[in-house]
Amino acid sequence: MTSSAQPPPSGAREAHPEHLGHVIFITAAAAMGGFLFGYDSSVINGAVEAIRDRYDIGSGELAQVIAIALIGCAIGAATAGRIADRIGRILCMRIAAVLFTVSAVGSALPFALWDLAMWRIIGGFAIGMASVIGPAYIAEVSPPAYRGRLASFQQAAIVIGIAISQLVNFGILQIADGEQRGKIGGLEAWQWMLGVMVVPAILYGLLSFAIPESPRYLISVGKIGRAKQVLAEVEGEHIDLDARVNEIDLAMRREHKSTFKDLLGSRFGFLPIVWIGIGLSVFQQLVGINVAFYYSSTLWQSVGIDPTSSFFYSFTTSIVNIIGTVIAMLFVDRIGRRPLALIGSTGMAIALAVEAWAFSADLVDGKLPSTEGTVALVAAHVFVLFFALSWGVVVWVFLGEMFPNRIRAAALGVAASAQWIANWAITASFPSLADWNLSGTYIIYASFAVLSIPFVLLFVKETKGKALEEMG
Ligand code: GLC
Repeated sequence: MTSSAQPPPSGAREAHPEHLGHVIFITAAAAMGGFLFGYDSSVINGAVEAIRDRYDIGSGELAQVIAIALIGCAIGAATAGRIADRIGRILCMRIAAVLFTVSAVGSALPFALWDLAMWRIIGGFAIGMASVIGPAYIAEVSPPAYRGRLASFQQAAIVIGIAISQLVNFGILQIADGEQRGKIGGLEAWQWMLGVMVVPAILYGLLSFAIPESPRYLISVGKIGRAKQVLAEVEGEHIDLDARVNEIDLAMRREHKSTFKDLLGSRFGFLPIVWIGIGLSVFQQLVGINVAFYYSSTLWQSVGIDPTSSFFYSFTTSIVNIIGTVIAMLFVDRIGRRPLALIGSTGMAIALAVEAWAFSADLVDGKLPSTEGTVALVAAHVFVLFFALSWGVVVWVFLGEMFPNRIRAAALGVAASAQWIANWAITASFPSLADWNLSGTYIIYASFAVLSIPFVLLFVKETKGKALEEMG
């Protein structure tokens, strides 16, 4: 699917306000996929210590159980486009909803460690699918004039999903008297944490019955009558439906179906622009952002903060993430992607270096001294704020618009897969690195933030205000 990055047709029309309300509903329903993406990938945060204890495993094995979901993500993201082109976007969403549901139930009631890992891979596959289907579908049903703003719902949904998962985990922990392995009605708290995801998963599945199939898909399979109905629903009856169908049909015919081969250049394997996309994706992960979201409870407990407060700080970090995302959305079109990325890298590098300094203090009775403890907490929040207002949003915006039309779909797939793999590498290595030296680990993340500055200065071109046709 190449649609998420389709340029608006000339003379983009304004939607009627009553239709816009309907389109916002459709967009919000589809963005539930993004919500589940954020929720499922971070919910594990609250359960890791209990899983380590329950199965009596070391850091290395624990990391594999957590990180293995990300391999499922990479496969799900890589295959979703083709599945959606074959069976439609809505059916694809329903499959993802079923997989999310199955994974939530299975992870909550595992027989052993191996099947827990299997349920997490299945959940990961669903996350990967949702990460591709949501933005693509939203772009396809959005009236051209509103496409950009509606597309940003997905990233907002991801960060809200992360925050809600922290809040739910916090609530469950309260009921279980602060014990991750505390019993609530026969199950342990961590099982509830993983199982509660069935609620948004089922909601996602139900909402898919309330939204229409994408007109673009309908046209591609020859269901022109139904496509016209949907176009009237989202863009208004006042538009010339025949002309609109022709316009979409023509655009699809003109569109080059890009393949992996088109990405190859003569000198460096991939074309330089593809490497730049991969670089952006990989740097976004190498600064260690998902350590903050997948491991924060463990991190704070390892420096002597009690479990309840650790959960609380995971949640406040997520709130800061939402605030930063809103700031980025306001500024990304005003001051540009490049300046935002550079501001973010600088802020993250400083915050990570400060965290490294704080973690270098000797623990007294298993705790950081109070000054260093406070500094570490503040620096962790500052780091997330700078990430969210820069690389969190900017990388997804860049990936959507930086590639020439000819290679966009395939290049996006490669860059997104690279991102999941980098995410996996950081997530899988964190527990062992932290056992080795927590302060040293943060120096590594800070170094990547520093390296990202010359990378942006030397290789990344501003895309603000340019038409998609000018890229390349
Ligand atoms: C971005 C990243 C994702 C991360 C999220 C945190 O979407 O791609 O890995 O979890 O930001 O807000």
